[in-house]
Amino acid sequence: MTAVGITMLTALFLANVCSSFYLPGLAPVAYCTQKKEGSEKNCKTDVMVYVNRLNSLETVVPFEYSRFDFCPEDDEEHSPVENLGQVVFGERIRPSRYKFSFDKNVTCKSACTKSYKDDKESIEKLNFLRKGIRLNYQHHWIIDNMPVTWCYHVEGSTEKYCSTGFPIGCYVTIKGHPRDACVISPEYSAKDTYYIFNHVDIVIQYNEGKGEDWSSTLISGGHLISARLHPRSFSKVTENSPNCGGSGPLSLGAKQKKLDITYSYSVSFVVNNNVKWSSRWDYILESMQHTNIQWFSIMNSVVIVLFLSGMVAMIMLRTLHKDLARYNQMDNAEDAQEEFGWKLVHGDVFRPPRKGMMLAVLNGNGIQIFFMTLITLVFACLGFLSPANRGALMTCALVLYVCLGTPAGYVSARIYKTFGGEKWKSNVLLTAFLCPGVIFGIFFLLNLILWIKQSSAAIPFTTLLALLALWFGISVPLTFVGAYFGFKKRAIEHPVRTNQIPRQIPDQSIYTKALPGIVMGGVLPFGCIFIQLFFILNSIWSNQMYYMFGFLFLVFLILVVTCSEATILLCYFHLCAEDYHWWWRSYLTSAFTGVYFFIYCIHYYMTKLEMQGTASAFLYFGYTLIIVFLFSLLTGSIGFCACFWFVSKIYSSVKVD
Ligand SMILES: *[C@@H]1O[C@H](CO)[C@@H](O)[C@H](O)[C@H]1NC(C)=O
Repeated sequence: MTAVGITMLTALFLANVCSSFYLPGLAPVAYCTQKKEGSEKNCKTDVMVYVNRLNSLETVVPFEYSRFDFCPEDDEEHSPVENLGQVVFGERIRPSRYKFSFDKNVTCKSACTKSYKDDKESIEKLNFLRKGIRLNYQHHWIIDNMPVTWCYHVEGSTEKYCSTGFPIGCYVTIKGHPRDACVISPEYSAKDTYYIFNHVDIVIQYNEGKGEDWSSTLISGGHLISARLHPRSFSKVTENSPNCGGSGPLSLGAKQKKLDITYSYSVSFVVNNNVKWSSRWDYILESMQHTNIQWFSIMNSVVIVLFLSGMVAMIMLRTLHKDLARYNQMDNAEDAQEEFGWKLVHGDVFRPPRKGMMLAVLNGNGIQIFFMTLITLVFACLGFLSPANRGALMTCALVLYVCLGTPAGYVSARIYKTFGGEKWKSNVLLTAFLCPGVIFGIFFLLNLILWIKQSSAAIPFTTLLALLALWFGISVPLTFVGAYFGFKKRAIEHPVRTNQIPRQIPDQSIYTKALPGIVMGGVLPFGCIFIQLFFILNSIWSNQMYYMFGFLFLVFLILVVTCSEATILLCYFHLCAEDYHWWWRSYLTSAFTGVYFFIYCIHYYMTKLEMQGTASAFLYFGYTLIIVFLFSLLTGSIGFCACFWFVSKIYSSVKVD
């Protein structure tokens, strides 16, 4: 019971630490109406809107803002600098024509007007816009480094949901089945018509900052704490008039070729001193993450862990103890004849496996991913990688992966040497190139598709070169260094000697056959993590933000424990059945969790997403394949290491003559 207590306490502690303090290093920006001349106070008077790439839940292909004919700023020079994580994972942040002055309310001001005449270019642009509306593409705007949200009532719930994106328009299909976005207003109901949301009502809240001295500025100042908007559609916009002159919605027929679209906005600034700047993200995150479900998931995992730990403890303490006592009591040869169980195979357990090279290489790479995940999660828990630090999470993971080539090379080399391998050159090369090569290969292929589709997610050529440089310039040499030290060390010594002639393995029952064991092995670890996976997949594919790194860290620990324990348990049963081929089996047992992961991703694709088109399916499964591959490498190595430790431990405790 103390174990439960400790687990719960740790959970509480981590969950609190990780959600309550985030964002070290990101300082609040002060805004003010006007600065007195010569004032020292550092404040901005202009509130800029930045626009990110547009994406859709119905395709995996995002597009840049300027690809649609909206209101982009002409000079892209002023785009904010993006980090590697942002570029690789498709964010493209650009300045826009929407610019406000702090604390100056504006009603219905035009940002730009686009005219479409009956020419080829116009037709092409309008068609692209129609396609965007049909596929429900979403804007993602950013003000003061926070997402501009669109909050609306969810059907059947009293609470508001705040989305970080808003649709570019809506389309009512012929069957009269309205798309989500058309629900905003009953006005948008004509059949087979595209409504363009060309107007936004923005409300920006700011906190005047208690105790802060604005006397060097004129009138007022503060820190922005939220920006919410409502998309609207107006066919004609009269500036400065309430409700923009009250014209009807701007609709675009399926065949229409001529159209003027005026993009406009209203903005009002409201004081709200109740929300602190440091918790300004809370309203977005709270509407997305469900702490109760998280707790439920943790409880669920803890139960599995306890169950497994109980089993393992029982084996370790009772069975093993009894086995050992019995084995070590038998001192004459006669008794030894009656030996049975795992001791019998002592002359074979450490016989090197077939394809030892491959196993060593996979393990090396798995260890690399293990440390990458661990360190990333620690940083995330300390708050360095919160959603406000755009792209930081991915940058951190990428850089760590590259820098952790040394452990990969070292582990791979040591295991390979332990297997008695001599082709050390192939070992080093495979460790450095095989797994990263597979990942890069898939990534490159997906990029080609995105590039053909002219998507913004296709990474620029320079970034591709940068990635290659990171791989060849840093990761590969580091792997070599690790391998050098790994080969220099003596091979890991086994507690028992291996016989010359391999023992015959008796016929196995269905439960101790290789495949059923492997398939069963993955179930429990997967059972511990699948609720968390749901949130992670949501954050990747459904614009949800993921920030509960405390929970994730816990779940990671639980995953490590369950993988190890499940593998050890199965390994023990196999050894008792005198089947000593445990090397690969221990790896595959926990790597099989990845297969369940993949099945879960298919389920998610079918039930949660409404992706359209083969390109999207291809991209979805391409990215999923990369994730699942990395995940399997990770869990496989965990199982292997745990099992190796266990086998060494038990055989070092028996006396073998
Ligand atoms: C702007 O509009 C809001 C809400 O309509 C109002 O509370 C606020 O006083 C206005 N600000 C100015 C400077 O007029």
